[in-house]
Amino acid sequence: AEVHDRRVEPFSVVQQEVDVVSERLRHSVTTGIPALKTAAEYFFRRGIEGKRLRPTLALLMSSALSPAAPSPEYLQVDTRPAAEHPHEMRRRQQRLAEIAELIHVASLLHDDVIDDAQTRRGVLSLNTSVGNKTAILAGDFLLARASVTLASLRNSEIVELMSQVLEHLVSGEIMQMTATSEQLLDLEHYLAKTYCKTASLMANSSRSVAVLAGAAPEVCDMAWSYGRHLGIAFQVVDDLLDLTGSSSVLGKPALNDMRSGLATAPVLFAAQEEPALQALILRRFKHDGDVTKAMSLIERTQGLRRAEELAAQHAKAAADMIRCLPTAQSDHAEIAREALIQITHRVLTRKK
Ligand code: FPP
Ligand code: MG
Ligand code: MG
Repeated sequence: AEVHDRRVEPFSVVQQEVDVVSERLRHSVTTGIPALKTAAEYFFRRGIEGKRLRPTLALLMSSALSPAAPSPEYLQVDTRPAAEHPHEMRRRQQRLAEIAELIHVASLLHDDVIDDAQTRRGVLSLNTSVGNKTAILAGDFLLARASVTLASLRNSEIVELMSQVLEHLVSGEIMQMTATSEQLLDLEHYLAKTYCKTASLMANSSRSVAVLAGAAPEVCDMAWSYGRHLGIAFQVVDDLLDLTGSSSVLGKPALNDMRSGLATAPVLFAAQEEPALQALILRRFKHDGDVTKAMSLIERTQGLRRAEELAAQHAKAAADMIRCLPTAQSDHAEIAREALIQITHRVLTRKK
């Protein structure tokens, strides 16, 4: 399909529906147990919900493959389980958007415990606020709620896809923790880890909404591939921002990756030009002054530029997937496709 350059504001295309999903999320994470309720609701509160990128992507992909715009009834909050309206494709796709955000936030709660993080989204991390034990259990609780919603879709292919995401998140985290010396310097290992930690959720949510749309297998593959490329671009930019951004803008400390012993894409590219960096990477920047030393070495290389190029290649590959989809069946689908393409540009220029 020819997608004309209509310059849509990508997040506004499904904004109202993402608000509906957010409202549903606030409903679906409540519980009668006060301490659990406070903890589980923490990152769903208004104002610190984050960019809600995953629900936005899921709903835009739903629209991109849809024969028509969703009718107004889908812009109202519906608290019935999906199983009570099995024929309403759009409602089921909204549930998937919700599941993606639940899994994402659960993984952040666990991640902040593992990383001993003090802040997240500009506020205290949950572990800092309520302690590690409650934070871990709150993450488990969100996964439990995600599982119930997933089961209510009555579609075992999607259960399988989203369960694989959980496995990937855990594998990615362990790959990062237990990398051998050889793997620490290896860009392929970094990319495999990045797929697991970041891209798999976007890729498989995107595939899942395509499956729910009854799309042909090759279209489902393209939806998956869009999410994979976008996720990798997103993470490489995240790595760059960690090196170049300020902590006040990011809402979390800058240079956090190296300080926690991680060599990301720009650092790995830099190490190919400046072998002195390799020793620092291998000892995970543990000695006093290692991070400062590494920064001055990186500045002498094309590391940042090469990582920018890598992100741009993946962003372009994602946009190409959208351009190659079969002809859009509605204006609404055209606009959603343009928004998905705009997001591939936006990912490259974001500042936080
Ligand atoms: C953020 O990475 C972390 C992730 C994207 C995934 C973390 C996965 C786990 C902790 C495994 C458990 C998974 C589930 C589903 C409960 P980061 O630390 O590099 O980034 P940050 O700057 O946002 O902290
Ligand atoms: Mg972290
Ligand atoms: Mg981490």
